This record gives sequence, C-alpha cells and structure tokens, in this order.
Amino acid sequence: MKKIVIAGGNGFIGQALARYFVLQGRRVVILSRKHHLDEPGIHYVKWDAKELGSWMNELENAEALINLCGKSVNCRYTHKNKERIYDSRLHPTYLLGEAVGVCHRPPKVWINGVSATIYRHAEDRPMDETGGEIGAGFSVDVCKKWEQVFFDADTPGTRKVALRMAIVLGSHGGVLPVFERLVRFGLGGKQGSGWQRFSWIHETDLCRCVELMVEHQDFEGVYNASAPQSPYNHQFMETLRNRLKIPFGLPATPWMIQLGTRLIGTEAELVLKSRWVQPTRLLKTGFTFKYPTLDEALMELYRKSESSESRILNLEF
Ligand SMILES: NC(=O)c1ccc[n+]([C@@H]2O[C@H](COP(=O)([O-])OP(=O)(O)OC[C@H]3O[C@@H](n4cnc5c(N)ncnc54)[C@H](OP(=O)(O)O)[C@@H]3O)[C@@H](O)[C@H]2O)c1
Repeated sequence: MKKIVIAGGNGFIGQALARYFVLQGRRVVILSRKHHLDEPGIHYVKWDAKELGSWMNELENAEALINLCGKSVNCRYTHKNKERIYDSRLHPTYLLGEAVGVCHRPPKVWINGVSATIYRHAEDRPMDETGGEIGAGFSVDVCKKWEQVFFDADTPGTRKVALRMAIVLGSHGGVLPVFERLVRFGLGGKQGSGWQRFSWIHETDLCRCVELMVEHQDFEGVYNASAPQSPYNHQFMETLRNRLKIPFGLPATPWMIQLGTRLIGTEAELVLKSRWVQPTRLLKTGFTFKYPTLDEALMELYRKSESSESRILNLEF
C-alpha cells in the first residue's frame, strides 16, 4: 500500500488530506508533536520537529511527503509571535530537508504547503506563478524565507512542489467558521472598502490537486492553489449571508477592523489585504475544479454540515 507522510498533518488541512488519501486507498503517517491514537488508515508518529530522530524512518519508501507545519497566523504580530511564526515554518522545513537528504529510498515527491500571501496586495490584476509580484512586510517575508529554505534543501532524489495555498474553505476549521460566526452575529457586511479580493479554494479541490501532484511527475516548482475566481470581499460576505439565510450584515469600517482585530488578538491584514491569486499553472495542466465558484463551494460545505454526517462522510469526494 502506498504511504503518504504528512508533517503537521494534525491540523485543519492535514486532516482533510489524510482522510482524502485514506479514502483513495493509501496509508497515511502523520508527524505530530503530540501523542494521538491511530485511526483506520492513519498512523501517528511523534516527533519534536526540532531534531532528527527515529521518525525519519517513516520517510523511507514514501510515495509523498507533505509538510503543513506552521503556527497559526491568527494572532497579534508581537515580537514573540513573529519569532514563533517564522520558527514553526522554517525549522520543520529545514529539518525535513535534512531527513529526506539522508534517506536511502527518499519520498518520490515533497510538497511543501506554503502560502499565496507571498503576493502583494492586488486590486489591479491577478497574481500568478510567473507574472505575480512578491509583496513586502512581515507575512510576505515569512513566505519568502519559507520557500527559500524549501528550495535550498539538497534532496536530489525527490521532486519538489511549493504549493502556494489561498484561503482554504472547509467545514471543520480554517477561516470559514470564523466568518460564519460574524455573519450569525449580524456582523457579516463588507469589511473595509469591501473591494479587496478574496482568493480561496475548497478543501476537496485542494486535496484533488495535491493528489494530482503526487501522481504526476511533471509537477515541479511553484504552483498556486486557488479557485479560478476571486470575488470581492463584499461579494464573499453576501454569498455567505445568503447561504446562511441571514438577510442583513453590518459593515465594518477599516478603523472598526483595526480596533476589533486588536481586541480579539489578531491582525487587520488578514481581512483587509486584497488577495487576488490565479492558478495559471494548474489550469494549464487541464485540472478542473469541482467547486469553481464560491456559491457552489459554500452550498456543498453547508449541505454537508447541515446533514451533520460524520467527519469521514463529510469528505466524500
Ligand atoms: N488554512 C489555510 O487557509 C491556509 C492557507 C494558506 C496556507 N496555509 C498554511 O498551511 C499550513 C497548515 O495550515 P492549517 O490551516 O492546517 O493549520 P493548523 O490547523 O494550525 O495546523 C498546523 C499544524 O502545524 C503544526 N505546527 C504548529 N507549530 C509547529 C511547530 N512549531 N513545529 C512543528 N509543527 C508545528 C501543528 O502540528 P502538531 O501540533 O500536531 O505538531 C498543526 O497541526 C500552515 O503552515 C498555514 O500557514 C493555510
């Protein structure tokens, strides 16, 4: 049975991918800093994400290594949190590179889940892998260094893909439940000007595109993982309100967002940055999105949660 190793696979995206690959008949090994009980098809291995150790054996003969390690950026960018954000991405990536480098039979492919936040605030045109412009500031710097550590790793026997993910929409984590709470409290109007773009991808499409990258040797280098359409923030909020059947939503001005995000311990940039990402390379391969529009994506995600089926059924692909 083919083996997929997911470092940081205990989080939102990792769990979606793990369940997806189990349904596809693969064996999944998750590297986590915590102890977990195994589940059908999923074996948890404890590592400290700091030092090489016996966990490295799991990489031998793996079909793929997927790295999703990273402290959540949903926090205030204090000096200490910034350090943690850098360290939780750069060090595990470096360590995995060292481990892959000494494997006898290294993973065939290493997909590093990175972020489309690397692109600049874009209101004028979409950012793709070739014509997109890299931005500036703390979160962009994290992304740049993260990719550099990844591509610097000396792993000649392993194909490498840096997957610049847009905001992943899923029913069991990420930002969707946060926006949903705002909408249910009547605060689901536009945020800031409402004209900032919102790039996103449905979790199922993310899993499908990762699977494609695992299976096809042509995939190498940087890829954007986002749906082909990036609505404006006001369209996103309106679509979500309609889906949740909440007829109105109070808008939030930029100063309200500055104040509100400070009060709840996060950063306004997460809401106000215009993220306009185009998955040009993916589309060129002929990849078709199961959920190309926001409306279809939200309809599917809320249909699933309304039917309150078990989590594994929620990831029927
Ligand atoms: N969610 C999105 O929309 C999105 C979009 C673009 C990029 N990304 C990136 O994709 C990655 C996964 O996102 P997610 O939403 O699944 O996040 P998540 O739910 O917070 O999971 C992240 C995982 O990273 C591991 N981790 C955290 N700090 C670590 C550290 N210092 N050393 C090693 N591992 C550490 C944790 O594993 P253990 O605690 O089990 O060790 C955790 O399960 C992150 O790097 C994130 O920045 C996410």
